[in-house]
Amino acid sequence: MSQRIRKAVFPVAGLGTRVLPATKSIPKEMLTVVDRPVLQHCVDEAREAGIEHFVFVTGRNKAVIEDHFDMSYELEDTLTKRGKMREYEALMADLPAAGATSFTRQQAPLGLGHAIWCARDIIGDEPFAVLLPDMITLPGQRGSKCLAQCIEAHEKHGGNIIAVEEVPPQDTHLYGVVSIGADHGHTFAINAMVEKPPQGSAPSNLIISGRYVLEPEIFDILAHVEKGAGGEIQLTDGMKELAKSSNFYGVRFDGKTYDTGSKIGFLAANVAFAMAREDIRPGFLNELKKIVGAG
Ligand code: G1P
Repeated sequence: MSQRIRKAVFPVAGLGTRVLPATKSIPKEMLTVVDRPVLQHCVDEAREAGIEHFVFVTGRNKAVIEDHFDMSYELEDTLTKRGKMREYEALMADLPAAGATSFTRQQAPLGLGHAIWCARDIIGDEPFAVLLPDMITLPGQRGSKCLAQCIEAHEKHGGNIIAVEEVPPQDTHLYGVVSIGADHGHTFAINAMVEKPPQGSAPSNLIISGRYVLEPEIFDILAHVEKGAGGEIQLTDGMKELAKSSNFYGVRFDGKTYDTGSKIGFLAANVAFAMAREDIRPGFLNELKKIVGAG
């Protein structure tokens, strides 16, 4: 039986250059999709998948992330005194349990592989999840979000799990790309991975979409991985090395993933997440129809 996945790493040290100037003084993970920060959506997804401990790899100018996952005494006191119990309770429900968060810093932007390696002592010797916080997901027909589907696959196959999604072939050079071995339908064996392949050379159009379950052996490998694509220490290069001794499986997520790190993706996420909210959908749809001239 595979070991239960209790901890998740959120690499949140990135600079957010694709959405400047919005991210000049606000971490990109704190930009709002509907009424909560992008990062809160990811933490919710992790929590729904059974994660109990949330590890944030932050950087300079990211202190508000830590504040967001703490009590806000003055605010909570004011809400209670004004009888705004619904708002108060919503805040309390979002709050991670005491001791369920850890924060460590990546001191220099050396790449995703290096960011994950920074969490090695907090994770210790157990398999763990990784959620890239740019990517936020809405459930598909299976009714669960992406990380839950990865953990389900881990329970079935063990080993390491990577969520994948199809993109148009001309976009593969922007991502990590996998190629398919034995196919089990919703999941498949991965037999090759490449980070940011030059245009026209990708082994498939299935990209690594930002959710992983990894064996702890990845940490020793990441300690020695050489700089790869973009001059950075790449997680994909570490995974390629780990794949020599441990199985990797891909999960075809049946829902939808939005890349909030790009301007279009961020705007699309706001529309999709607003439309998925029963309390917001009717009024929002009205406004949307007016804007696109369909109402
Ligand atoms: C990272 C990963 C890449 C993955 C992508 C998803 O790249 O290295 O494998 O496909 O996230 O967004 P980045 O977007 O940090 O360049």
